[in-house]
Amino acid sequence: MARPGIQKHLAIAPLLQCPICGHALHAREASVACENGHDFAISAKGFLNLCPQQAPHKGYDEAFFSSRQSVMEHGYYNVVSEGIIDALRELPRNAVILDAGCGEGSYAKALCAAMGCTVIGFDIAREGIRCAARGGGPVRWLVADLAHIPVRPAQADVILNVFTPANYAEFQRVLKPGGMLVKVIPAPQHMHELRELAGSQLRKTEFTDHGVAEHLERHMRIVQRTRVTRTSPVTPEDAVDLARMSPVSFGVNLDTLDLAALSHITVDAEIICATF
Ligand SMILES: C[S@@+](CC[C@H](N)C(=O)[O-])C[C@H]1O[C@@H](n2cnc3c(N)ncnc32)[C@H](O)[C@@H]1O
Ligand SMILES: [Zn+2]
Repeated sequence: MARPGIQKHLAIAPLLQCPICGHALHAREASVACENGHDFAISAKGFLNLCPQQAPHKGYDEAFFSSRQSVMEHGYYNVVSEGIIDALRELPRNAVILDAGCGEGSYAKALCAAMGCTVIGFDIAREGIRCAARGGGPVRWLVADLAHIPVRPAQADVILNVFTPANYAEFQRVLKPGGMLVKVIPAPQHMHELRELAGSQLRKTEFTDHGVAEHLERHMRIVQRTRVTRTSPVTPEDAVDLARMSPVSFGVNLDTLDLAALSHITVDAEIICATF
């Protein structure tokens, strides 16, 4: 029997398709392969790279994901994960959940622990997936592009999409009929303390949601919309991680920020549930 990190990925081969030719992937000894000979080895580090040619994404590096993981472990975003779990509380245990753009994987892990479902987290950033896969566990991890999701049509009961771009054509293809998208977007007070601190270094100091909810509504029907907000005190160590883990600070010189002044941080988000 293959090692658990390999075996758990072989077990989901029936859900997967080749990212190169679109044919079904099948389990081999320690890899998955299609009938055209495209073969993808399962890493001994516990993930499967189905996006071999991706270019590194600016800002989404090891420091970003390890800081993000630390902030998640210290509970600042629990209000979001609790809200997601609450939205999915009636989901059966045999459901399949895809976390599209899972980053370092904290939401996928929390969902899997709470619901016992089959959870597959994927992200285009290999560094995020390496971080997610550390320590094993039941979640399956793919390096994959949400614009070309390497999943066969109509396999997922739920797609989770947290603070991450969407691709509605792909979501429609991989969701089962009646399946649900749970999309989390920032709300106006999100990290306002960090935005205020970064001030003039930001291209836009005002909050903008970029019309994401309106765009979603052009493709899907919203069935539930919940706002979750929590302001927490910040320790000096966590202030550094909070600054590093947020796209708010992309392009900001963190050395010039007075992070000691970051005494509190607000997480403010909308959890939107929608169907096609
Ligand atoms: C702000 S992070 C959010 C990560 C995670 N969902 C969370 O909330 O902690 C945005 C993520 O989207 C991922 N991403 C961006 N474009 C993507 C694509 N085309 N396919 C898959 N992931 C993508 C990035 O690599 C990054 O991990
Ligand atoms: Zn192929």
